[in-house]
Amino acid sequence: MSAETIRYGLIGAGMMGREHIRNLSVIPGSRIVAIADPNAESRRTAAELLHEKPMLFDEADALLDSDFCDALIIASPNDTHAGLLDRIFSMQNPVPVLVEKPICTEPSDLERLRRGAAEYPKPIWVGMEYRYMPPVATLIKEVHEGRVGRPAMIAMREHRHPFMQKVDNWNRFSKRTGGTLVEKCCHFFDLMRFIARSEAVRVYASGAADFNHLDERYDGRQPDILDNAFVIVDFANGMRAHLDLCMFADGSWWQEAFAVTGNKAKIECLVPASRGYEEKVPAEVLFSPRNERKTLERRLVEVDEEVLAAGAHHGSTYYEHLGFRRAILGQGPVEVSVEDGLKAVAIGMAAELSVREKRAVEVDGLQFG
Ligand SMILES: NC(=O)c1ccc[n+]([C@@H]2O[C@H](COP(=O)([O-])OP(=O)(O)OC[C@H]3O[C@@H](n4cnc5c(N)ncnc54)[C@H](O)[C@@H]3O)[C@@H](O)[C@H]2O)c1
Repeated sequence: MSAETIRYGLIGAGMMGREHIRNLSVIPGSRIVAIADPNAESRRTAAELLHEKPMLFDEADALLDSDFCDALIIASPNDTHAGLLDRIFSMQNPVPVLVEKPICTEPSDLERLRRGAAEYPKPIWVGMEYRYMPPVATLIKEVHEGRVGRPAMIAMREHRHPFMQKVDNWNRFSKRTGGTLVEKCCHFFDLMRFIARSEAVRVYASGAADFNHLDERYDGRQPDILDNAFVIVDFANGMRAHLDLCMFADGSWWQEAFAVTGNKAKIECLVPASRGYEEKVPAEVLFSPRNERKTLERRLVEVDEEVLAAGAHHGSTYYEHLGFRRAILGQGPVEVSVEDGLKAVAIGMAAELSVREKRAVEVDGLQFG
C-alpha cells in the first residue's frame, strides 16, 4: 500500500456497498479494486460507479484469497458478517477491515468474535456511523464537554419509513437480521453507550409488528420483524436512555431526534428525513439551559453538498471513512471497535428478548455469559 492510495475490497455491493463506493470516490487516495457479490446485478451496478474497473468475484472467498486489497469493507447482509470475520481472522495476510453493523446476529457469535478480534493484528472498525452525523457529533461533543452538567437522561426517537426492499429480501426475517432492535437499533444503543460513557445493565422493551410487511409473503412466510418499539436502557452509572422507534411514520419531517438532559441544561439534535421531501433542510442543534428566563440557542448544522449526496446517512459515511483511513494508515485509532459493535448488538438482543418475553432483561448475562 502506498500512503497515497489505499486499495479497498468490497464484500457486498448492494445499497450500502454503493454508499461506500460513492463516499470513497470523494476521498482522495482511495480505490476500490475488487468487489465480491453473488448477485450479478449488484456487481454490475456497483462497478458502473467506478472509473477504473475493479476485479469482480461472485463470492467473498475468492476476493479474500486474491490478496489484491490493502483493506476490506464488509457490506453484505447481517447474517454473513460473523462468518466472514471468522474467515478473515485466519487470513495469511491480514488487512484492516470495516464491517457494517450489526457485527453479528446470534448470541453465540458474541464471545467467539470478541476472541477472534483480540488476536487479529490489524484494525477492525465497526460501521456505527451515526456517531459521525455532524449534528449528532456536535451533541456528543458538547455533552462530553459538560455543557448539560451531569447528564442523566438520553432520549432517542427515530420516526421513519419502513425497511426498504433488499436483495433477496434478507431484511424481512429476524433470523437473518437479528431482529429490528439489533439490525437498525444497534446504532442507537451504540450512541447511548458512547454518550453515557457507561455500560448497559438492563433493558425493558415493548414492541410489535403492527402495520408494515404484513401482506408480504416469502416462500409462504410472513415477515416477522418489528415495526415499532419503545426501549428503556439502564446504565451502570445511573443514567437512563430511551428509544422510541416507529417505522410507519413515512411523513416525518425530522427522522431522528436525540436529546440529552442533565442538571444544568438540555441539548438536542434534529436530523431531517433521509428520503421523501423535495426541500432539503439542515439539521439543527438546540441548547436550552435551566434558567428562569428561557433562552433557546438554536444552530443549523450545514453539511457539504457533495458529502450529503454520497449517501443516505446525513454525511456520516464520509466522516466514518476519513477515520477508517487514518486507522489504516496508522495515523489514528480505531474509533468504533469490535467491542463497541458487540456491546451494541448485545443490547439489541436483550431488547428483542425483552419484547418476546415481556420482561426486563439483564444485558450482562446475555452478553458473554
Ligand atoms: N451503517 C448504516 O447506516 C447502514 C445502512 C444500511 C445498511 N447497512 C448494512 O449494510 C449491509 C448491507 O445492507 P444493504 O442495505 O446494502 O443490503 P442490500 O440487500 O442492498 O445489499 C446486500 C448485498 O450483499 C450481497 N451478498 C449477499 N450475500 C453475500 C455474501 N456472502 N458475500 C458478499 N455479498 C453478499 C447481496 O447480493 C447484495 O448485493 C447490512 O449489514 C446492513 O445492515 C448499514
